[in-house]
Amino acid sequence: MSTSYERTRKRFAGERAAQRYDDRLLGSAKDRRERRAIAALLGALPSGARVLDLPCGTGRLTGWLAEQGWRVVAADASAAMVVRAQTRLAGTDGVAFSVHDALRTGFRSGSFDAVVCNRLLHHLIEPEARTALVAELLRVSAGPLVVSYFDRRSLHARWVALRDRLRGKRRRDRLAIPRARLRREIEAAGGRLVAIVPTRRWVSQQHYARIERR
Ligand SMILES: C[S@@+](CC[C@H](N)C(=O)[O-])C[C@H]1O[C@@H](n2cnc3c(N)ncnc32)[C@H](O)[C@@H]1O
Repeated sequence: MSTSYERTRKRFAGERAAQRYDDRLLGSAKDRRERRAIAALLGALPSGARVLDLPCGTGRLTGWLAEQGWRVVAADASAAMVVRAQTRLAGTDGVAFSVHDALRTGFRSGSFDAVVCNRLLHHLIEPEARTALVAELLRVSAGPLVVSYFDRRSLHARWVALRDRLRGKRRRDRLAIPRARLRREIEAAGGRLVAIVPTRRWVSQQHYARIERR
């Protein structure tokens, strides 16, 4: 049986997946809400700060991070995604692109002043995979790690859980987790949960956590 880590890598790996993902959210209200949450949790970083955007996908957040005056490394496990991001952002100053796996990046410890991990954690079903992701991204950040996750407390997540139960379905992707579990996994990864910001309080399952090294 494949793991959610393998399935998630495979699902986004090809050129078609990258093409379909491209522009799906860019400029949408959801996109703006995500940026607001990330900005609130990143706080003030100095101009020239090194920020890792992993996974960058097709670069939806990358350009915006670079506009803040930060030096951004945009990385993703999918070469097709990275090529699209690179094409879209050609000519943008302060951005470097590369292919990296978020669970074993190969970057030196403390290489970045902050790390942003948008829309990956909820694809990882096994707790060990989520812990490994948080541990690796904390290792390479000398500052905060801002990570999105699906919060079990939201109305949307409750509705999905009820629907799954009625259908006798076991979730294999897009998993919402309780806050207490998130906190435990962060602590197992050597981190500390500092703050949480929802994109739409009570309604949306998309939440953001600011994590720091313990
Ligand atoms: C839902 S997209 C999010 C992209 C981007 N962060 C955004 O918000 O637009 C998920 C991304 O995770 C990438 N991905 C999947 N598994 C990965 C892994 N193990 N390491 C790095 N990236 C991975 C996929 O290639 C895909 O680009």
